[in-house]
Amino acid sequence: MSLKDKIITEKLPLHIAVIMDGNGRWAQKQGQVRVFGHQNGVKAVRDTTEAAAEIGIKFLTLYAFSTENWNRPREEVDALMELLIHTINQEKETLNKNNIRLQAIGDLQSLPGNCYNELQEAIAETAKNTRMTLILALSYSSKWELTNAMRQLAKQVEEGKIKAEKIDEQMIASNLNTAGIPDPELLIRTSGEHRISNFLLWQIAYAELYFTDKLWPEFGKEDLYEALIDYQNRERRFGLVSEQLPK
Ligand code: FPP
Repeated sequence: MSLKDKIITEKLPLHIAVIMDGNGRWAQKQGQVRVFGHQNGVKAVRDTTEAAAEIGIKFLTLYAFSTENWNRPREEVDALMELLIHTINQEKETLNKNNIRLQAIGDLQSLPGNCYNELQEAIAETAKNTRMTLILALSYSSKWELTNAMRQLAKQVEEGKIKAEKIDEQMIASNLNTAGIPDPELLIRTSGEHRISNFLLWQIAYAELYFTDKLWPEFGKEDLYEALIDYQNRERRFGLVSEQLPK
């Protein structure tokens, strides 16, 4: 029985989020510059997206560039932006062919103009696709997102539109970049690091965390299947005890 056959389609998470880590270390291991790792990371992006869509995942979020990543050496940041522009442009057609909708979260205005335009174009051109939504987190950090949500809510209180004591979880969620997107049930991080790194802190409150030692460029379809099988073997209790869960 193949790994794929072991996955129970009725028990799939709706949303998987991925912290793609280890491109730099992978490149260094081959005696190459870090950018070479990012270039090879694109194949893992393609394989993971394809596998997720094939299996029936509805939302896939990839942490492609964090707010903190702007502090990397200038040449690496420039190369990553170029790679993003190129990849988005190249993959648009494949996304459409596979009925995948592209979305993005993060401080998109801070992206270079050509990257922002390419992204918006791809988002608009894939907007009607329904099989899966691929969400790129770009210039994203959770603390940035939460700060913005708090500002927006404070402004509404100031303007007398809402009362502070009426603010509930739903209102906070609808002021996040991920408004309308279900919370991820599974969060995967590659490269052996056991950290969340400012990613979807609110949204992963009940997510199952899966860590693998594989470096991102090595991650492929079989690795996604393994993560899903591991997820399906866990008991998700949401604060209840086992006996209270539906049989
Ligand atoms: C983390 O590895 C990876 C990134 C910061 C960038 C991820 C980008 C891609 C895979 C390419 C383009 C993506 C899309 C969606 C088109 P790292 O550099 O932190 O690795 P290290 O921890 O080994 O240094």
